[in-house]
Amino acid sequence: MTLQERCRILQFTDLGDERGKLVVIEGGQSIPFEIKRVFYIYGSDASVVRGQHANMESEFVLINVAGQSKVRITDGQEEFIVELDRPMMGVYIPKLIWKDMYNFSSDSVLLVLASSHYDGEEYIRNYDDYIRIMEDYR
Ligand code: TYD
Repeated sequence: MTLQERCRILQFTDLGDERGKLVVIEGGQSIPFEIKRVFYIYGSDASVVRGQHANMESEFVLINVAGQSKVRITDGQEEFIVELDRPMMGVYIPKLIWKDMYNFSSDSVLLVLASSHYDGEEYIRNYDDYIRIMEDYR
């Protein structure tokens, strides 16, 4: 499978009507894991790069519920960029994938769903270490 096939774009159903939009996300259904943690990033802008890590265990889904941002996704070999610009789309990021989030619009609210509770020990924050770890997996 290519990196893009593994890190697939998720399209959520809009259940909105004349009163406004409604998007539902259920763990294990519209996203491929049970949700253990939710966090959101806002107040970033076009000058910052966030993320810059991979995770040994956690899987994520990233959704810009407001505004826009970009995510650069790589496994150390392939790379692609996703533009998150609609509340009805997300990108699934499996474990052991490196991600950088950047180009935040000033109104960006980036919602992140995670498959595990926070554990700083499972974060790989050094890109050279990441490449070494990935070589061991290959
Ligand atoms: P960081 O991983 O740098 O955020 P991002 O990947 O979004 O750029 O996290 C910033 C700080 O918040 C860092 O000290 C770790 C802490 N943190 C938690 O305590 N729990 C969490 O679930 C997350 C995502 C971060």
